[in-house]
Amino acid sequence: METTNTALWPFEVVSNEPVAQDIWRLVLQSGVAAQIAPGQFMNLQVPGDGSHILRIPLSFASAHGPSGTVEIIYAVVGEGTRRLSQMAAGSTSTLVGPCGHGWRLPAQEGRSLLVAGGVGLPPIVAAARMLAAQSLGFDVVVGAQTAYRHVESQIDLLRGMTACDLCDCGRRVLVTTDDGSLGIQGFTTEAMAQLLAERGYAQVYTCGPNVMMAGVARLAADAGIACQASLERMMGCGFGACSCCNVPLVRGGYALCCQDGPVFDAQEVAW
Ligand SMILES: Cc1cc2nc3c(=O)[nH]c(=O)nc-3n(C[C@H](O)[C@H](O)[C@H](O)COP(=O)(O)OP(=O)(O)OC[C@H]3O[C@@H](n4cnc5c(N)ncnc54)[C@H](O)[C@@H]3O)c2cc1C
Ligand code: FES
Repeated sequence: METTNTALWPFEVVSNEPVAQDIWRLVLQSGVAAQIAPGQFMNLQVPGDGSHILRIPLSFASAHGPSGTVEIIYAVVGEGTRRLSQMAAGSTSTLVGPCGHGWRLPAQEGRSLLVAGGVGLPPIVAAARMLAAQSLGFDVVVGAQTAYRHVESQIDLLRGMTACDLCDCGRRVLVTTDDGSLGIQGFTTEAMAQLLAERGYAQVYTCGPNVMMAGVARLAADAGIACQASLERMMGCGFGACSCCNVPLVRGGYALCCQDGPVFDAQEVAW
């Protein structure tokens, strides 16, 4: 289970390189690696001028406590992530973490279905590692707009991840693209519906664009399957002080994505 010992950590960049169109893989070294749990996130300070005060919230794909390394996959979308992509090996800065609440193991026995869209992939890879470590079976749907936006090394990793001995599940990994340039043409929700028609699942895990996760949550609810969703919000502080990361709830009121999430029970979210 995750720790709540959020702290300020120094980090050093081990490697930082492009792995798909405008998508980078960053490996950093930091003591947070031994503390952070799948689905939690970190808030990275990226060196810049005096106007760059906000940290960048980022999930991770893998963390290895003994070596102190954390693997992050990120899209370059604006000024902060552009500056992050310029941090070469040996660059140093600080991060705040572990932040928020991560994935929970399935409450029921059985296979899980993981659905990732775009750069929702890293926390889904972390969820897959969590399940594999418990010898729990899973299938995956990974979607992107186009082939050039898919991180193929991570997809290969999901295909090859072992430790599924208990269920001998014959893992299905379906790749989709909006334009049909790789895998199945269409949205992840269509591939998910295909898998739901073929197999039973105990739990759905999803991370990606809000509209995609809303669709995944709906399909899971219709099939009577519990669903956990990792939400993204614009963040200021990252630890519950500024109230800028509100998530509307079905029961009324709001939760804070940074503190109560980023992983939520999908049926609690007013999508
Ligand atoms: C908990 C959490 C985990 C995240 N994990 C990852 C990850 O693993 N990989 C990854 O690539 N990105 C991740 N993000 C999104 C990442 O934090 C933003 O892309 C980044 O902060 C953008 O900073 P910027 O200065 O480059 O862009 P900005 O100039 O600030 O913004 C550029 C564009 O990105 C949008 N944007 C900015 N911040 C966010 C945000 N927090 N959520 C959604 N859209 C945003 C803006 O609306 C704008 O359209 C995560 C966000 C959260 C909240
Ligand atoms: S980012 Fe400040 S309260 Fe969530």
